[in-house]
Amino acid sequence: MLKKLLLAAVCCCFGWLATPSASAAEGIKDLKVGVVMPSKDLERWAREGAYMEGLFKNAGIKYDLQYGAQVDPQVNFIQNMLSSGCNVLVIAAVDGASLSSVLETAKEHHVPVISYDRLIMGTDAVSYYISFDNTKVGELQGGFIRDQLGLDRPENQNKTFNIELFAGAPDDNNAQFFFDGAMNVLQPYLDKGQLKVLSGQKDRAACGTERWSSQKAQERMENLISAQDYAGDTRLDAVMSNNDAIARGVAEALNSQGVEIANFPIITGQDCEVTSVKYIREGRQSMSVFKDTRKLADQVVKTVQALAKGEVPETNDTTTYNNGKKIVPSFLCPLDVVTKDTIKAVLVDTGYYQEAELK
Ligand code: BGC
Repeated sequence: MLKKLLLAAVCCCFGWLATPSASAAEGIKDLKVGVVMPSKDLERWAREGAYMEGLFKNAGIKYDLQYGAQVDPQVNFIQNMLSSGCNVLVIAAVDGASLSSVLETAKEHHVPVISYDRLIMGTDAVSYYISFDNTKVGELQGGFIRDQLGLDRPENQNKTFNIELFAGAPDDNNAQFFFDGAMNVLQPYLDKGQLKVLSGQKDRAACGTERWSSQKAQERMENLISAQDYAGDTRLDAVMSNNDAIARGVAEALNSQGVEIANFPIITGQDCEVTSVKYIREGRQSMSVFKDTRKLADQVVKTVQALAKGEVPETNDTTTYNNGKKIVPSFLCPLDVVTKDTIKAVLVDTGYYQEAELK
């Protein structure tokens, strides 16, 4: 009975679905998925788009995959997808708050919207959110810094360590979760005075990095190095960077200001992008939080297939992700920490990268 009710609810929400008596095969045959990704220039999205394409091809699902690095192209792609008959949308938004009006059209057409990796804000047109535990990403970064500096060790209780903070793009909803996660761990040590931010730039607004740009991070880091004399007499112990692109900018700044790799601070990241894995091997970055994006894409395909069959897609978090209009049922994939010592086990042995790519 419960199953029937759920089925009825799904079919009623997503009017595009075939009648409950239609077979799964019919549903999939008519299915066309529109996928909108952010910039192809950031390695993460290019790789994921290509991987997802492969999954759709294998599953015989029709799709239209587009990359839009700015809001306007993303909105245009969505409009075109809707008018060309896409009946499910998968969107990784560049600006989580700017899609409400185009998604009203999706809602009018009863097209379910899967918010991919980044939560789309301010609209009840979003049906599902498939991502990672974004707070946990930040907690892993903060926890790594705490452990590497030995902040809990008795002999370090009266010592002071210098840290600078680099948050992500102000318009990416994930950035708030990453930053808050890191601060959940680091704030008590800042309060005790064991950690110091000499620049005084401690809140997300002051630490934000527009579009997650390496270049912007590099510029900010260069300014911090000269203002605080981090290439000279003042030791910088750690940089909490919320992703790899930013971490690379930080490393480039240290490099350009003449800091030897042996004197680099602890630098965190996320995504395990190829260049950053190389940086980790060379000692230019200390860690990266690995988000196995194959799992994310697999889950998208499973969700799409479930919708096409009139089933309720699997979720594992129905409380955390409130987009201002609704709590979006979410599926969060697991995370891992990668350091120099675990690159092989986590990234190569699992087939995510070939060893040759990391040379
Ligand atoms: C993603 C991160 C990525 C960042 C920049 C975020 O929304 O969750 O994995 O590093 O965007 O592309």
